[in-house]
Amino acid sequence: MANPSLLILAGDGIGPEVMAEVKKIIGWMGARRGVQFDVSEDLVGGAAYDAHGTPLTDATMARAQEVDAVLLGAVGGPKYDKLDFSVKPERGLLRLRKEMDLYSNLRPAQCFDALADFSSLKREVVAGLDIVIVRELTSGVYFGEPRGIFREGNERVGINTQRYTESEIARVAKSAFELARKRSNKVCSMEKANVMESGILWREVVQEVHDRDYPDVELSHMYADAGAMQLCRWPKQFDVIVTDNLFGDLLSDAAAMLTGSLGMLPSASLGAPMANGRPKALYEPVHGSAPDIAGQGKANPIACILSFAMALRYSFDLGAEATRVEKAVEKVLADGVRTADLMGPEGGTPVSTAQMGDAIVAALDASL
Ligand code: NAD
Ligand code: IPM
Ligand code: MN
Repeated sequence: MANPSLLILAGDGIGPEVMAEVKKIIGWMGARRGVQFDVSEDLVGGAAYDAHGTPLTDATMARAQEVDAVLLGAVGGPKYDKLDFSVKPERGLLRLRKEMDLYSNLRPAQCFDALADFSSLKREVVAGLDIVIVRELTSGVYFGEPRGIFREGNERVGINTQRYTESEIARVAKSAFELARKRSNKVCSMEKANVMESGILWREVVQEVHDRDYPDVELSHMYADAGAMQLCRWPKQFDVIVTDNLFGDLLSDAAAMLTGSLGMLPSASLGAPMANGRPKALYEPVHGSAPDIAGQGKANPIACILSFAMALRYSFDLGAEATRVEKAVEKVLADGVRTADLMGPEGGTPVSTAQMGDAIVAALDASL
């Protein structure tokens, strides 16, 4: 049987730097665990724009549709800030998400014990934290029409539209309830039903899906602004949070700081099952291209490495190998290995991106 296929789109800024460390883990899986992938690589974002004048070529899009999983680094950067909106690096990523119909974006925020003192919140608030934000990823204000900048009388008006259909809400709710059943059986849905009609519909449909198919799961509803406050006040009250595209974007960056660094947060963007029964999938760190540290060997590769671990679990049915990678990360952190973003107030000597990758590979060796 052919090896499972993996398309790597490293992208811009620190994307290629963190992806180089993931490649070490992929190599290790092949050499030491006999887990082989058919790996191909291509360009996305600013890198694709530089080469082809577009942030995602049709050929790359077609390849992404064919493979078992896509692994993406990050896109964007100041070099591309002045480009026309339609060819900005971020449009490449949004096209991938939309055309692959990756409606369910799982963003786990887990606080490793060794990092509990590095969070901006107190240790007791974050220690042992393990929550997942399920962000709707292919609709809402990111994609709603009408949109654009228009002239209205003697001034301009910028328009974006928040739009959700029942079926879009129902399918992401279902994925959150399914996930909850594998965890603590608890879902909190967040919207702003107090001010937005789309929020009223969101709340109703999530409740209907619950009552019809998941009555065994504990469901609560919260306004997203209060949810942001509760995430900072006592995040351990949550297990699975389901929310829309824009609120999910904001809440997941906030959740990142509970874990110590944005450089720690992986994500899986999942769509409908393919012929092999596995979901169409793209895995990417929550962070961006980090222009302020790009090219300096300072980036933390853990978010990207943990994204690959999610691929092992969700796309390749290799849950035990995913756990092995996660445990290796945990061990390295427990041993005090830290990239610069994980330096606590007491300071210390940070390791480079490559040294962090090497330490994780060494921990994998030690796991055998
Ligand atoms: P960012 O996530 O790139 O950086 C925010 C801060 O976090 C920076 O100080 C950065 O140095 C730090 N940081 C992020 N990842 C890190 C890592 N792995 N290790 C250590 N420190 C890390 O967000 P931004 O600065 O708002 O955006 C920069 C560019 O990235 C923009 O063009 C934006 O559109 C893009 N972006 C892309 C993605 C993506 O590709 N998925 C996600 C977010 C932002
Ligand atoms: C993310 C990013 C993206 C988003 C951008 C780069 C399109 O912030 O993945 O969180 O807004 O979804
Ligand atoms: Mn974001």
